Amino acid sequence: QQTELSVDNRLLAICALLEKEISYYNWVGFYFKNGDKSELKLGPYVGEPTSHTIIPFGKGICGQVAISNQNFVVPDVSAQDNYIACSLTVKAEIVVPIFVNNQNIGQIDIDSNTPDPFTDMDERFLEFVCKKVATIL
Ligand code: SME
Repeated sequence: QQTELSVDNRLLAICALLEKEISYYNWVGFYFKNGDKSELKLGPYVGEPTSHTIIPFGKGICGQVAISNQNFVVPDVSAQDNYIACSLTVKAEIVVPIFVNNQNIGQIDIDSNTPDPFTDMDERFLEFVCKKVATIL
């Protein structure tokens, strides 16, 4: 019999798998709506530690996705003015929302050290991942 993993450990395993298998995924993490507050809270992640454990809605790429309910692909982070820098090595970012009962409850956030690496395939793939994640929350 397999030992049941907690939700956080499952999410961490997903982060680790994505970071390991996809060369241009260099920081992979989840942010979730923090209770009733209009802010995101950092969940499981793999990559450099970040001080941005709480992000108000509207702030940065993540905070914008919390409001827009849309994928946000950033080919060049230096061209964004509403961007929260976590590491100077990061060149690009993709954020895809997670929906439970049609509510935007969080997101997967991926940083890349490669400029402009994300394609439609990443969006479709990460939408698939987020749908699967929604079923285990
Ligand atoms: N760059 C993000 C902040 C989170 S870090 O990438 C881990 C943003 O602008 O929202």
